[in-house]
Amino acid sequence: MSDINSKTQKRGSDLESLLHSEHIVTVEKMAVGGSAVARIAVADKSVVVFIPYGAPNDELKIKISAVEKNFLNGEIIEIIKAGSSRRTAACEYFGQCGGCLWQHIDESEQVLQKELILKDLFKKFLPGVEYNLLPTVSTPEKLGYRNRIQLKQIGQKIGYFKHESHDIVEINNCLISETALQNYIPTFKTKLRPSEKLKKFELKINQTGGVEHYPVGEFGEGLAFSQVNRFVNQKLVETVTGLAQKLNPEQITELYAGAGNFTFPLAEALPKTAIQAVELSSQLTKSAVERIKTEKKHKKISFFTTKSEIYCRNSATFSEDFVLLDPPRSGCDSEVISVLSDKKPKAILYISCHPVNLVRDLKNLTTKYKIGHLQIFDMFPQTDHFETVCLLERI
Ligand SMILES: C[S@@+](CC[C@H](N)C(=O)[O-])C[C@H]1O[C@@H](n2cnc3c(N)ncnc32)[C@H](O)[C@@H]1O
Repeated sequence: MSDINSKTQKRGSDLESLLHSEHIVTVEKMAVGGSAVARIAVADKSVVVFIPYGAPNDELKIKISAVEKNFLNGEIIEIIKAGSSRRTAACEYFGQCGGCLWQHIDESEQVLQKELILKDLFKKFLPGVEYNLLPTVSTPEKLGYRNRIQLKQIGQKIGYFKHESHDIVEINNCLISETALQNYIPTFKTKLRPSEKLKKFELKINQTGGVEHYPVGEFGEGLAFSQVNRFVNQKLVETVTGLAQKLNPEQITELYAGAGNFTFPLAEALPKTAIQAVELSSQLTKSAVERIKTEKKHKKISFFTTKSEIYCRNSATFSEDFVLLDPPRSGCDSEVISVLSDKKPKAILYISCHPVNLVRDLKNLTTKYKIGHLQIFDMFPQTDHFETVCLLERI
């Protein structure tokens, strides 16, 4: 057995003995996934402990609830001294519901922690890459911002999943959703019959401002993407169009285009620019094509219903000037990144909702590109999630 293996095994067994042990720790920061991060000294090592519902600088008494190979999970037994950003959460379901893990942290600290998460990821995975993280964009709507939510039902219980569990926390309200949705939840619950099997429903504000609901399949079938926070989305769209106007491309290739959230404003801002928009969901491209037909003014937009990786592999029409990417949480397919790195368009604007996958994808591009604009958009207050806009300019 090599030295490395014996060390790992020894360390693993050291950690195993910590299960259910109690410790006093101070929270250093917050992590992707929403837990607080603290450290425990184990022999000559400092081991990370993830603690749900901890807050920055909290002094906590915790119990180790799970042991992984290189880290620990802990539960709070007592808050010995609360960090200065800790507050009482507004929502009565906080602490049980898995939806908002950061309601107990004030909003300015939430933003600082999101910035820290992004900076830490750059430091770890993109060392040496220069950037200037611009001030985070947010709006006053810290609650009441979501225009769609997904509720679950088993038996007579209707609500959200508990944190890291498929148990349901029954809810009658959800403070981060828009008022019309909040008012609709009790009515919606009276419409359902008890169900033996797990059922999921999307409740959504429609285009006329009314609320509708529909069932969602086990694997998300029936869901069509739209940005959940119209207030921050407006700012995001303005920034994307502003950056595109400065670059003034002849042609834009837009991958992961949805129903045209960016496509139509880009076409308005750059009427001479041809835009190829690529989207996998035919439901979304159908709605975009209908809009093109109805509005009769978007002659320069073409929508393609396919996977971005297939489009990249086969298409002769690929912009040399400007490529816009807004992939799902999993990030871009590796084939998309390799085509971009091969074709080297002048600029790539990457909009990301998962910072870990953003830095993974950037790793292969930052040898050929410098970062011209980097900014967080606080699209999901009270949670650890955020959007990042990253403009890459060819070196
Ligand atoms: C984060 S959303 C962005 C949509 C749009 N840009 C917007 O702002 O509304 C990601 C989109 O990528 C689509 N998508 C997922 N995988 C894809 C793939 N492999 N190729 C193309 N589109 C994909 C999803 O259907 C979804 O509409």
